[in-house]
Formats: sequence, C-alpha cells, structure tokens
Amino acid sequence: MSRKTLEELRSQRWFGVDNMRAFGHRSRTMEMGFSREDFMGKPVIGIVNTWADTNTCHSHMRQRAEEVKRGVWQAGGFPLEMPAMSVGEQHTKPTSMLYRNFLAMETEELLRSQPVDGVVLMGGCDKTTPALLMGAISMNLPAIYVPAGAMLRGHWRGTTLGSGTDVFKYWAERRAGNVTNEQWSELEEGIARSAGTCMTMGTASTMMSLAEVLGFSLPGASSIPAVDSTHSMMASRSGRRIVEMVWNDQKPSDIATHEAFQDAIVADMALGGSTNAIIHLTAMAGRAGIKLTLDDFDEASKKTPMLLNLKPSGKYLMEDFYYSGGLRALLRQISDLLHLDRTVCNGMTFGENIETAEIFNEEVIRPRSNPISATGGTAALKGNLAPYGAIIKPTAAEPHLLKHTGPAVAFENVDDMYARIDDPDLDVTKDSVLVLKNAGPKGAPGMPEWGQLPIPQKLLKQGVRDMVRISDCRMSGTSFGACVLHVAPEAAVGGNLALVKTGDLITLDVEARKLELHVSDEELEMRRNSWEAPKSPYTRGYGALFMQHVTQAHEGCDFDFLHAGDSTPEPKIY
Ligand code: FES
Repeated sequence: MSRKTLEELRSQRWFGVDNMRAFGHRSRTMEMGFSREDFMGKPVIGIVNTWADTNTCHSHMRQRAEEVKRGVWQAGGFPLEMPAMSVGEQHTKPTSMLYRNFLAMETEELLRSQPVDGVVLMGGCDKTTPALLMGAISMNLPAIYVPAGAMLRGHWRGTTLGSGTDVFKYWAERRAGNVTNEQWSELEEGIARSAGTCMTMGTASTMMSLAEVLGFSLPGASSIPAVDSTHSMMASRSGRRIVEMVWNDQKPSDIATHEAFQDAIVADMALGGSTNAIIHLTAMAGRAGIKLTLDDFDEASKKTPMLLNLKPSGKYLMEDFYYSGGLRALLRQISDLLHLDRTVCNGMTFGENIETAEIFNEEVIRPRSNPISATGGTAALKGNLAPYGAIIKPTAAEPHLLKHTGPAVAFENVDDMYARIDDPDLDVTKDSVLVLKNAGPKGAPGMPEWGQLPIPQKLLKQGVRDMVRISDCRMSGTSFGACVLHVAPEAAVGGNLALVKTGDLITLDVEARKLELHVSDEELEMRRNSWEAPKSPYTRGYGALFMQHVTQAHEGCDFDFLHAGDSTPEPKIY
C-alpha cells in the first residue's frame, strides 16, 4: 500500500496553499486558539459525533470524543469534532427511521464541505450506525467507526431486565392485570442503569456488531459495554488508527466489499440479529454499488447456525456476551463461512483478528456443536401477500405458529388498530391473524416499529402471549413474536396487503417460506379497482422529499437519488 504525501492530503486545499481563502482558513483556525504547529502539515480528522441530550444512549459520547481526539493528537493528526443529528431511538418521532437518510445525507455533506482527510464516526443507537456508514461509504474518505457500546444489564427484584424485550413482556402482563403500578414504577427505574445502547441483541447491538464484521471498527470494539474503561481505550485507539488509515489511503471502498457484506449477513444470522439489519445492510450495500436481495439473507440463514443466547431470542444480555468472549469468539466458531482474507480497518485481515478468540462461557456463546438453532435467526417469505418479500424472526416466535392458517383481522392503519384492538366485541381468537396496513415506508410514513401488534386484551387475559401478525412496517430488534414484517410492496403503494379483508384466510409456512392470502386473483382485482391510495401528510419540507424518494423495504428504504452512481465533485475553493 503506497503512503500519501502531505501534498496529496485533501485538507491541503484549505490549509496548505498561498491564497486569500487559505489565509482565512488558517487565521480562523488560529481564532480558536490553535497555533500553526497544531494543524499545519497534519491530516485533519473529522469526528462526526451523534451525542445530544436528546439521545439517551449516547450520553457518554462527549467524553468519548475527547478520548478519540487524544488518540488523533498522539498519532500526529488534527481532530475537528462535527456534531450531527443524533436520531435517538427513544425521543425521535414519529419514528427514527424517517431520519436515517437525513443523517446519512448530513454525514456525507459534512465530510464533503469541510477540510477533512479522514473521519471517526461515533454512533450506536439504532439508525445512527447505518446512517453514518451510508454517508461515509458515499463520500469514500478513510473512515473508522466507534460504537457507543451497550448499557449494563437491567435489574428488578433479583432478575435481570433486557431493554425493550422485557418492557414488551411486562407491559403485556400489566395489561393482563398481573403487574401493579408500584411494580411498573420499579421496572422503569431498574431497566436502564448506565449510558449506552439497548443491551439486548436489538438493532443497536446488531448494527454495531455488523459494522465491526464489515471491517469499520477495531476488532472486539462492538461488544465492549459503554461504561467499561476498555471502551475509552478503544476510542483513543480508533483515533490513533484513523491517522494511519489516512496516510495509507484506506477507504470505505477498500473495506465495504461484496465479501464483507456477505460476512455481515452470515454474522447477523449467527447472532440472531435484529430484523432491521436486513433493511440497513441493503441500504449500506446500495451506497457501495452492491445489490443485496432477500434471497442473500435467506441463503445465509439456511447455512448458518444461530449461536448467541441473547434476548430477545435467548436468555442473556450484551454484558454477558462481552464477558464470554464477545463477537470475535462467536465469529471464530463460524470462520469456515466467512471471508478471512479481506483487510479491515486495523490493517490486518479479518481472519487474523479472530484467530485467537476464545469462548469463556458456552451457555452464552454456544459452540458450533451445540447451537441455539441449526439455522439463522431470520427467514425471508414470499407469496401473493408479499410478491417482493417479507421477513420473520422464527427464533423469537412460538414454534407452533410457524406453520399456521387463520382468518385475518384487518386494521386499515395504526389509529384503527388502537381504536379496536382491546374492544371486548372484536371478533378475534388465538388462531386469528392480525393484519396492520399502511404502516410501511410511505404508508406510516417512515416505516415505524409497530410490527409487534399488541395481543388483544381479552386474549391476554386468557393466557395468549403470541399470535401471527402481519404488517408492512418494522419491529424493534428487541421485540419477539410470530410477526411477519416488511411486507413489500407495502399497502400504501397498492400491494396486496391493502386488499386484505377481515375473515380472509392467510397461511404462514416458515419452513416453506410462504405467505399466502387465500383470495382468488379475480376477487383481488375487483378489490383493487375500488382501492384508493392514502393521502400523504406531507406537502412540504423533508417529509415531502422522503415521500417522493424513499424506496421499498426490500430495496433498503434509502432515497433513490442516494444510491451509488457517478461521483459528486469536490467543492471548488475560490
Ligand atoms: Fe438507543 Fe435502543 S434506544 S439503542
């Protein structure tokens, strides 16, 4: 690998030339108190930090940014922190997914418009990881990812609590009348004990892990708890490493290869990762000019055993994963399924990074000889109800529902669902199939996490805890249940989901990968003739842009104009 010279650094166009504009760039950098020797003749490292008081999971990241800067200074770089929209999962409404592409665009344009040679991306809460990487892949400057890390285990009355997963579980018990107000209040105080992301294998943990598998994080980084001192060390090591990556010109296009995405899909299956990973990986790959399909995920699922015993599919939490050896130990178990020769961000091969990893607790990370399930955590479905596909996480569902035929109880939208779901007169049994329409990328809009439709209260009181549920939205990676998600095409663009009526029979057969609506083509055509598309709530602003350009779930829900294409010119500096 040839090393860059100082003159070849991109930032030299701002700082290293003799003209009036460069005078301004230098004098105004000195305005901040930096002396000439602090920044002249050095690579400029942008630190895109998604810290914000509105992002509950990133509260430690102001401190981590300082630790990244320490590493950058030590390695001879000049760090510049650049805050970006935080997209915290908890407070961002109507759904953080509406803003993933916004952060991706912001990341790309921040890097393009500023005197940056390389970037440290700081994220973790669900959408931040794919968004930051999508932007960085499109911009293609050397980039390293610092994952926020998961929070510590939750605790309540002698039991551990997992983010999301146990909220859904105890909320169902509360609706069934089994949890008091006092107990509910105790749960609220015990479930989130430290800075960091959700500590189940939800979307955040999944995407941080997959960023490491792709090769954008230092080996082992994604499994470190957010508040562990090792996390600070990882941050400063990342700062040191990015300076080397700049000199070596090691860019995202060298890392985000087709093989890397194949490995991420395999790892996702072994982790029992979030269903959301399918959409995010598809979008990230699209930025690199790589087309992933649901078949890629399904093929990986068939050949990859699920080895990680973490909620929502299993029993333990991210802290346990770390103490048991972490992601590297899990990857070593499936190394025969991975591309070990590709070079990742630390300059080593993927295989070299995992070859010495050990499992320290085989209850948490199962060895290959004793998997949680012989196949991966996600299955892709097709049929007349989802011609472009749908997905389900079989490992998080009650097994008896994985082959099921039942009558639909159809809800036109989320308002209709919440108005009727607990009506004692709702004609529903444990064998019914709950169907939610108009909750997809354009229908909701923003494809929120409504896919774990609530079990009707009268069934909860009868002891029912899982049912087949079908929608065109997503569900939280921390959720569980026989929930068919991401139905494409979605109802709002006229997919057959829009035509389902209460009482129609629907068959889910996970082993056969089928999702069938038992209504004739002629009858569907008649229904389609009287169907009307829902009206968009947005006529201006970002929402209108989103409605015009978002793609369907199987395409990754990126904006069509952000897919890989001709390169965007560097800014002129006059
Ligand atoms: Fe931030 Fe779950 S709310 S990761």
